[in-house]
Amino acid sequence: MLKIGEILYTEEVIKARVQQLGAMISKDYEGKTLYVVGILKGALIFMADLVREIQNPVRMDFMSISSYGNATQSSGTVRTLKDLDLDITGQHVLIIEDIVDTGLTVDFLKNSLCLRNPASLKVCVFMDKPAKRKIDLEIDYIGYTYTGEDFLVGYGLDAGEEGRNLPYIATIKE
Ligand code: IMP
Ligand code: MG
Repeated sequence: MLKIGEILYTEEVIKARVQQLGAMISKDYEGKTLYVVGILKGALIFMADLVREIQNPVRMDFMSISSYGNATQSSGTVRTLKDLDLDITGQHVLIIEDIVDTGLTVDFLKNSLCLRNPASLKVCVFMDKPAKRKIDLEIDYIGYTYTGEDFLVGYGLDAGEEGRNLPYIATIKE
């Protein structure tokens, strides 16, 4: 059983920040259709909330990437488990991720989607955790930056597949 440590971002705080991100994205992409790519499974909850705060037409697709196995340490290798359903050539692609840790996953995604010639390619993550970053990454939209090194759960984030459905983001007790 998962033991919750400290609640860092409450449901209310998350909701307000997602509204702000949605407003920013709507403004930045005014007059354009967005092709939103959610990274399974962690981005599921954030993406569901965020797309409802975006005023533009939105197409949705998903990718599934493996970078961790079941441990809480990065294995350093990234594999595509499920690719996009549709061609993104000429689309305004926005990658949605739950959290950026080492940066390996988002770097891999950016590089591989860039090769498919989208009209534009940006990244939106809810949590940025730069303490263990291995790759210097440009992230276009960030919910919150967490400067600690703790493993976080909730709002899509899991520890061994548990905790994704928690409405808040928290640390876990060992
Ligand atoms: P990165 O490739 O090291 O940036 O890791 C990104 C992926 O690792 C995310 O999509 C998450 O699935 C997972 N991850 C990294 N840190 C955490 C965390 O604190 N809680 C839950 N999952 C995490
Ligand atoms: Mg993930």
